[in-house]
Amino acid sequence: MSTTLARRRSAELQELIGADAGVFRILTGDRPTGLLHVGHYFGTLQNRVRLQDLGTEIFVVIADYQVLTDRDTAERLDEHVTGLLLDYLAIGIDPARTVIFAHSAVPALNQLLLPFLSLVSVPELSRNPTVKDEISHSRQSAVSGLMLTYPVHQAADILFCKANLVPVGQDQLPHVETTRLVARRFNQRFGVPVFPLPDALLSAAPLLLGTDGAKMSKSRGNTIPLAATADQTAGLIRGARTDAIRHITYDPDARPEVSSLVLLAALCLGRDPHEVAADIGDGGAAALKGTLTCAVNEMLAPVRARRAEYARDLGYVRRVLREGNERANEIAAATLAEVLTVMGMGYRDLCGADPAHLRAKIYAGGCPSGGASSWARWITWKTKKRLHAAVTGETVVTRGLQR
Ligand code: TRP
Repeated sequence: MSTTLARRRSAELQELIGADAGVFRILTGDRPTGLLHVGHYFGTLQNRVRLQDLGTEIFVVIADYQVLTDRDTAERLDEHVTGLLLDYLAIGIDPARTVIFAHSAVPALNQLLLPFLSLVSVPELSRNPTVKDEISHSRQSAVSGLMLTYPVHQAADILFCKANLVPVGQDQLPHVETTRLVARRFNQRFGVPVFPLPDALLSAAPLLLGTDGAKMSKSRGNTIPLAATADQTAGLIRGARTDAIRHITYDPDARPEVSSLVLLAALCLGRDPHEVAADIGDGGAAALKGTLTCAVNEMLAPVRARRAEYARDLGYVRRVLREGNERANEIAAATLAEVLTVMGMGYRDLCGADPAHLRAKIYAGGCPSGGASSWARWITWKTKKRLHAAVTGETVVTRGLQR
């Protein structure tokens, strides 16, 4: 899907969310490679909290296996995972409503990768533009199998819980396309509508550049982390790149570095960037940096205070992950059971070898997609019927796939 189409679809989705946020189940996530920063905050984090508070069910994956796509070993994983958890809790992710889990702790999710890989061709994998870009920036001399296949792993992240909405930045659009492809082909190949076709929800926030004027990225060291102190923030902003023109204006095409700083200040202040620039005017870069430092530090002060509080109770933080992992495992096991059953592998002792036990599980809600929308209800009913047939040996007549 082109970016223009994705934007149009995202606007439609925003309306649907406004009408009834409860029909959506969201899966989103981050690689544990460093501290989350202001770009994440305005790009996705703020939106996660908004959607959570509107009543959407959210799953957040800490994508630890995905760290190994462009490097041989994942450094300081434990520290980065704890850092992500602290950032999530500090910005307002509520573990009572949102499930936070790690890839590596959910074996059934990872197993979905195998049937999913059988549904995509090597040329399709090689064409993914985001993967191509990452290969060109990779620290490895050869392209690993994981680098080429991680978008399919990401499909498993999204589909294990039958998420129907994935809030992403533009670079993740090809991965959502892969996910839709996998879901569509799985449903068609096995004749059972097991998976929804999830939509990408593009963020409305414009792109923020790093303090060096390049793309803001954890691995480039050009970010303003949420967890930085007020002094560190002042230092990072003091060192940010500007240009030789004294008068401050907001003109992202002609003056990308200055405009990105103006934009960040405007986002923190909830103001229009042109107005912020006009107020600074001949004050120049020094005044801009002063305004920006105050704006960032003021906006982040409560987040940082909460983060410090959670950091004093790491037992609680670990418990959040443990409970999220448990919930994700329950759902992944149910989805994998369903997948194996429709693939004709119902003999595998997963839900218990006893078909009556499996049947009980299916009717007790083994299909977790049973959301409020009628489409989700239809899927659930149909899937249950086919699963029932698979374990009892009855034949069922279906009308073929819809959607
Ligand atoms: N690829 C995402 C990133 O690099 C992280 C991620 C992993 C993700 N699995 C996901 C995002 C599923 C959305 C949905 O930040």
